[in-house]
Amino acid sequence: MPQVTYTDHTGQSRTIDATVGDSVMETAVRNGVPGIVAECGGSLSCATCHVYVDRADADDLPPMGEMEDEMLWGTAEDRRECSRLSCQLRVTEGRDLHVTTPTTQV
Ligand code: FES
Repeated sequence: MPQVTYTDHTGQSRTIDATVGDSVMETAVRNGVPGIVAECGGSLSCATCHVYVDRADADDLPPMGEMEDEMLWGTAEDRRECSRLSCQLRVTEGRDLHVTTPTTQV
């Protein structure tokens, strides 16, 4: 079972057994992981599911779409090279993911 590790801005980490096909955002919300607000429920219209993907994992991810790219300019904490919207990241078999949540989402 793939795992997603969420590290918050203080360095505290939590690793969750994730369901293939769920998004990284859904996995966090269902398991009460703090740091991801997801106001729009995954419809790509809020940018409050912003995460920083670990460099080692970033290259394995599918490239972001135009809309995600645009939404990432509206995040509460500044976008970085490894920024993604976690509602757009799917859990896939055989791939663990490590993400860091920003200090704030709103
Ligand atoms: S949950 Fe709103 S953009 Fe991801």
